[in-house]
Amino acid sequence: MDFFRIQGGRRLAGRVRVDGSKNAALPLLAAVLLTDQTITLHNVPALTDISNMLSLLRELGVDVRGESGTITLRSVDENQVHTRYEIVSTMRASISVLGPMLARRKRAVIAMPGGCAFGERPIDLHLRGMQALGASITLLSGDMSVTAPKLKGTTIFLGGPNGSTVLGTANVMCAATLAEGRTIIECAACEPEVVDLANMLIKMGAKIRGAGSPRIVIDGVESLGGAEYTVMPDRIVAGTYAVAAAVTNGDVIIDDFPFDCMLAVVDRFDHIGVIVERLDPNQDSMHASVRVTSARLLKPTQITTQPHPGFPTDLQAQFMTLLCFAHGNSVITEKIYAERFLHVAELTRMGANLQRFGSTVIVSGGTQLKGAPVMASDLRASASLVLAGLAAEGVTTISRIDYLDRGYHRLETTLNALGANIERCSATSNIETIASTNAQMLEAKRAPSMSLTAAAKQ
Ligand code: EPU
Repeated sequence: MDFFRIQGGRRLAGRVRVDGSKNAALPLLAAVLLTDQTITLHNVPALTDISNMLSLLRELGVDVRGESGTITLRSVDENQVHTRYEIVSTMRASISVLGPMLARRKRAVIAMPGGCAFGERPIDLHLRGMQALGASITLLSGDMSVTAPKLKGTTIFLGGPNGSTVLGTANVMCAATLAEGRTIIECAACEPEVVDLANMLIKMGAKIRGAGSPRIVIDGVESLGGAEYTVMPDRIVAGTYAVAAAVTNGDVIIDDFPFDCMLAVVDRFDHIGVIVERLDPNQDSMHASVRVTSARLLKPTQITTQPHPGFPTDLQAQFMTLLCFAHGNSVITEKIYAERFLHVAELTRMGANLQRFGSTVIVSGGTQLKGAPVMASDLRASASLVLAGLAAEGVTTISRIDYLDRGYHRLETTLNALGANIERCSATSNIETIASTNAQMLEAKRAPSMSLTAAAKQ
């Protein structure tokens, strides 16, 4: 597996564009199962999660043309209903095919997703929604078999202990488009990716009102047609680029910054002393160009992750890195995934001063991070380590960057174009490189004391 070797301490400057959103594209792709007409999607990011979803769709009888950018898809064999564990275990978002498949093919057999790197991720709300629409569910050797000869609209409450569910809302919304009568989703997820999906479904002929609010009303139709649609920009990638500019004291212009759905993030940047300035206030606020710079001294803050429009859990790890450079104590509380703190131990290896108390971490900022060999453990944790490596003194090596490739397309190429020094190395030389990096760092540590000794002798 590849790993990164990052020489820290370079200031980032220049211009970068945000790709299409992974978390919007995945349910949009799954929605092709709702029709036998052609769907053309533009701005699909080139990521491993997208390739996995395309492989799954091919197994489910979809003719797929293209891998990223513009992709055309058409469901041609509607007899396939099985989503294998081998695929579900690589990507939990495979569950997005449940609603579309059930609505049109009347049956879906989906392997139960197991645990996830950052804790339990149940699917009870997805299943509650399908049952409310009239589906029956049986569990067979790790597969759930979900059947419904005819789905019937009803009122469904989708709230759970941590708020609503994004992919659960997407699943129920898709299923309800072809159900008989009216479905009302109460406590629906308000995430912009749900709005993106609703917009495409409406283009396909669905009758949906209220997406983006906690109450979505869907009036079922007989069938859906084809559509052409452009995936929204990725708000998490946009936020990650902005943190990269801030931790390196850089000056970066970010195009296609979905400002309108990042207000909680921009608010925290503002509090910390990172300036996110819109270049043209008349520009479409989902495709804004912003300039990111920072104050000389960053301020500590409090962050609590919440469902949208609150601060997104998918940027928690990246902001933890940023707050390591603020002067004072910050408090980060994770309210969506209580265990999503795999980056804490790795950042600590780089000299971060972090104390975890359950789902809260106190970040005592102001210490200079030092390059170290660290290991990526999930997608956003990996991003936080790359950001730490950019700002750290010396060399950082990050292993298991396959996690990063799931959600950031060639992040090193993008950041290098802004002035970073990141090398993607092949794993065969991993141990040797990490060992030589360690040796270099040891040498660098010795060097000043040697010169002091030399100076003292003179
Ligand atoms: N939950 C339940 N029951 C369910 C489903 C969810 O209790 O049936 C709980 C979860 O355990 C969690 C909360 O509800 O505490 C929210 O989970 P949600 O279902 O909204 O997550 P998801 O839809 O599976 C999407 C993103 C995640 C992102 C979350 C939260 C995709 C493909 N994934 O997951 O993105 O963290 O919403 O915003 O859209 C990532 O990109 O790194 C990532 C993990």
